[in-house]
Amino acid sequence: MSDCIEVIKGDITQLIDVDVIVNAANPSLMGGGGVDGAIHRAAGETILEACKAIRRQEGMCDPGQAVITEAGNMTAQAIIHAVGPVWQGGNQQEAELLAQTYRNCLDLAAANRYRTIAFPAISTGVYGFPRQQAARIAWDTVYRYLGQRPLPEKAIFVCFDEETQQIYQTLADTL
Ligand code: APR
Repeated sequence: MSDCIEVIKGDITQLIDVDVIVNAANPSLMGGGGVDGAIHRAAGETILEACKAIRRQEGMCDPGQAVITEAGNMTAQAIIHAVGPVWQGGNQQEAELLAQTYRNCLDLAAANRYRTIAFPAISTGVYGFPRQQAARIAWDTVYRYLGQRPLPEKAIFVCFDEETQQIYQTLADTL
């Protein structure tokens, strides 16, 4: 089961051989900084247009929710734009909302019959979620989901910095 999860350090936009790339978006779905900016730059203008179309039809994307678009110029087949919670001290259901964000991404990947999915450390940048706690939630949620469902078959946690990689690696090693 542990080989269903891979931990790597790097830039998520450079991944090849993955069906779905998850983006840490904001409720507007109009792009931003961090991994959101990098993904929109790599994917191109058609993705922004796809996000605008979703906005017109469905409105803003609430924290915990996610939407799926094609992947434009990226080699992946789809991008899931997920809105994690903003950290407000821990008493605003941030933990449950973060778990829900991961689950909704996995549900969307499964519904579209994708086998592999790559996640950034959602909410741990601009949104300020403590890295250790966020990693534990991400790991537990994804691990449990993959163990219970046929799809997706594999998840990759893409860590942008050394500290995040070490946190995820420790979780992997304790399995
Ligand atoms: N590949 C992988 N991970 C990345 C990359 C990248 N190219 N760039 C940044 N990261 C990492 C950050 O180091 C952090 O660990 O992604 C994690 C999430 O950070 P943010 O991108 O700041 O996302 P988040 O905390 O969820 O905040 C979302 O940021 O840019 C805005 O539009 C976005 O408003 C939204 C907010």
